[in-house]
Amino acid sequence: MKLDQLLTKMWNDYTELNPKALEIYNLFKQKEEKVINDHVAFRTFNHKLINIDNFAKAFVDLGYVKKDYYEFKQKKLDAYHYEHADSNLPKIFISELRLEDFSDSLQSKVNKMIEQISPEMIFKPDFCISGRGWGVSFQDYQELKEESEYAAWLSAFGFRVNHFTVLVNALSSFSNLEELNTFIKSHGHSLNTSGGEIKGTPEQFLEQSSTLSYNQEIHFTDGKHIIPACYYEFAKRHVMPNGNLFSGFVAGSADKIFESTNKGQ
Ligand code: NI
Repeated sequence: MKLDQLLTKMWNDYTELNPKALEIYNLFKQKEEKVINDHVAFRTFNHKLINIDNFAKAFVDLGYVKKDYYEFKQKKLDAYHYEHADSNLPKIFISELRLEDFSDSLQSKVNKMIEQISPEMIFKPDFCISGRGWGVSFQDYQELKEESEYAAWLSAFGFRVNHFTVLVNALSSFSNLEELNTFIKSHGHSLNTSGGEIKGTPEQFLEQSSTLSYNQEIHFTDGKHIIPACYYEFAKRHVMPNGNLFSGFVAGSADKIFESTNKGQ
């Protein structure tokens, strides 16, 4: 599979899960904007079969290189971002949950889910959007959520895009992130206000905002339920003293952005 094919499949899968992202994308297109994706984010577990390195293999095979490491102590997450030599291609941000830092009950639920994934699936180029290779009950989802919203989200959705992110620098209609946020809200979309609407500052070289997740109906083994799925993010990058545009991430900001899946709109 070629990279542009994979990116298209990722976008289609994502907008099926979050139709509001497509609505916002179309608002930009109505303004004749060219939408550039800053990054695409995925979630996984640090289990040896599906940890960041294994998850990233398809992207590395397509030319991506592992870059910076990020730690999220409170949420018990580790993350890396990957970049492609073609800077017009989105960065890939992959985080993983530290399973050993959770209860035996959570670890056992998650390990049972992972054991159900067909091993040949893991190294397929589109594993990152292969979805949920296991059955999960709504009760297990709720129990996982008591310990980790992140674990619960993964149990319900499996491997899907968590969010696409629009590079605000490439939009000509908005001079800053505040203007863009006002535009998004004026069209009826709710933003994540955890840590304020805008996370990060120009001094940190990265400002980010995001919508709240779309509420999607999901089939659990014990019935259908509507739960927060995925969100759309907006990133404004700033030039560093060395003259280069900052290409990394700010852990403190990403920590709050993660909470965009805590509730839906
Ligand atoms: Ni992000």
